[in-house]
Amino acid sequence: MRIALYPGTFDPITYGHLDVIERAASLFDRIIVTLAIHSQKSPLFSIEERTKLIREATKHLQNVDVGQCNGLLVDYARDHEANAIIRGLRAVSDFDYEFRIALANRVLAPTVTTVFLMPGEQYTYLNSSIVREVARLGGSVDSFVPPHVALALQDKFKPDRS
Ligand code: COA
Repeated sequence: MRIALYPGTFDPITYGHLDVIERAASLFDRIIVTLAIHSQKSPLFSIEERTKLIREATKHLQNVDVGQCNGLLVDYARDHEANAIIRGLRAVSDFDYEFRIALANRVLAPTVTTVFLMPGEQYTYLNSSIVREVARLGGSVDSFVPPHVALALQDKFKPDRS
């Protein structure tokens, strides 16, 4: 079994993430989309909400699961017999950060290989902060996220009528 983790914050999952997941799902036997902790982020959506949104977005992919990692990603990889970590590279600006994480992970776990995939060029500009900001200001996020995610964002930012 070739098992790969696709880690990230996914706050929320976007069409750009989905593009990477679909590519990875065709290359590996099993993909675990792994909600990981980024020490400097305070997510808008709870872990449970993000898990639900990812599950719904990937329900058409039989070999994709969702997991949650509270510690080191490489330990989670070992525990789940994953030998690859998928990361998306959207632009040169991603490279430095990704390169450093991949090297650190390789020192920590030499048998776990980081695999970089390029999402479709139409998603090069996309990240979750942009999506949250557009939604917060009442704009349409239909081009960025699946309909159920757009609804969840709408719900988060609906005016407080109390
Ligand atoms: N399409 C659209 N957006 C994308 C994307 C894609 N294909 N790929 C990444 N992004 C966006 C994300 O939405 C996110 O946007 P935001 O910052 O505006 O919210 C940004 O790019 C980067 O996010 P992400 O890919 O989720 O990575 P991250 O930097 O939030 O998370 C972890 C990095 C969680 C994977 C990393 O910190 C980690 O491995 N943590 C676990 C603990 C650990 O092992 N640490 C040691 C690592 S050496």
